[in-house]
Amino acid sequence: MKKTRILTGITTTGTPHLGNYAGAIRPAIVASRSEHADSFYFLADYHALIKCDDPLRIQRSRLEIAATWLACGLDPARVTFYRQSDIPEIPELTWLLTCVTAKGLLNRAHAYKASVDKNVEAGEDEDAGVTMGLYSYPVLMAADILMFNANEVPVGRDQIQHVEMARDIGQRFNHLFGQGKDFFTLPQSKIEEAVATLPGLDGRKMSKSYDNTIPLFGSAKELKAAIARIVTDSKLPGEPKDADNAHLNTIYQAFATPEQGTTFRAALLDGLGWGDAKQQLFTVLDSELGEARERYQALIARPADIEDILLAGAAKARAYATPFLAQLREAVGLRSLTALAQAGEGATKKKAKAARFLSFRGKDGQFRFNLQGADGEELLLSNSYADPKAAGAVIARLQAASVEGGISLVADGELRFALQLDGEVLGNSHEQADAAARDATLQRAEAALASIAAAQQE
Ligand code: TRP
Repeated sequence: MKKTRILTGITTTGTPHLGNYAGAIRPAIVASRSEHADSFYFLADYHALIKCDDPLRIQRSRLEIAATWLACGLDPARVTFYRQSDIPEIPELTWLLTCVTAKGLLNRAHAYKASVDKNVEAGEDEDAGVTMGLYSYPVLMAADILMFNANEVPVGRDQIQHVEMARDIGQRFNHLFGQGKDFFTLPQSKIEEAVATLPGLDGRKMSKSYDNTIPLFGSAKELKAAIARIVTDSKLPGEPKDADNAHLNTIYQAFATPEQGTTFRAALLDGLGWGDAKQQLFTVLDSELGEARERYQALIARPADIEDILLAGAAKARAYATPFLAQLREAVGLRSLTALAQAGEGATKKKAKAARFLSFRGKDGQFRFNLQGADGEELLLSNSYADPKAAGAVIARLQAASVEGGISLVADGELRFALQLDGEVLGNSHEQADAAARDATLQRAEAALASIAAAQQE
């Protein structure tokens, strides 16, 4: 089974709190342990610069967030864990994408529109205080995602639109430069429905902007102090509590085993005092987070080790990004000057290096593609399509199937063979001189498919 590439970024502007842990960090680490997952998690520190011009805060936050993910059990050997700013291919790709992104698309981005609305309301110029960083934010995010051909992007609801934009932008690039081959996988956003948003001290969503957070790795004393500030009603010990409407209970349930959760709820209904309830919440949190807190303190004390882990992660990420970006540069025409002379000498010579599917428009105006061998020989010819996109989509399916299986070449009773995908006939060879010639051509076609599969996996 092919692995799913899961990618997400964490903007490095703050210190992680309990809400980040329950809503993002914990589920992401659990997901990364699946044998079907190929996870890319990174510190979105270029994104952080958009919202923050305090260098010390950026520096501190990168350290704290990296230490938090490692302390919580992220295994850097298993996933690719890196800093966005260590991958120079990302800003480079951002520019290539910027050049195919419609300005109108970015005009519609929620974050930008919210700023404009605020300005209009305040009677200011529409774009007052709006930087190009904020405006182009979705393009940088598209580059993060498309650079690694992510399939799934776990995000909060506020980020769904950005993932949609990454799809639009990727599709546009594929269409303009792909020539039947899709450079970019189109990503899907993934919202963890099962992970409820954690309420904060005052019952609203836990968020730094509401100043209602519980620190994730504060000392036991700080944790106690935060819990003491959780707002409850004023019912006395012995009076039954409305457990299902108490956010203290919601927080407790997010960290308790199901049995502990049931017992706690029953105790509240039965009159457990809020003071005792807070003590129990502390115990549960301290037992879930105590060990991680110690690991966190140890990591923070050794920033050079974290630096090494992140640089190793960047090297891993770049092993993918560098050759991929080279292909993209080539595709848009940023090529060595000598390449043009070579292409002039004989385009066939260059093409001759690899077997491939090649699409073209026939004299009848219909679109088809053929399978070419490494020497340019036409091994088979597809059915015809009225729409070039339809032909392109079939090629894409065949390219994927060359790796995943489903293609067969079937000799018919005559002197031809058919190209089938999951039993559907998509094309045929020309008629061959005799059965032996047919079988030989069929073998060359098999070899061509194998080399296309190999190229897909590069
Ligand atoms: N913009 C995201 C946020 O604020 C962070 C982010 C940056 C991201 N690049 C990404 C998330 C790529 C997913 C994929 O939450």
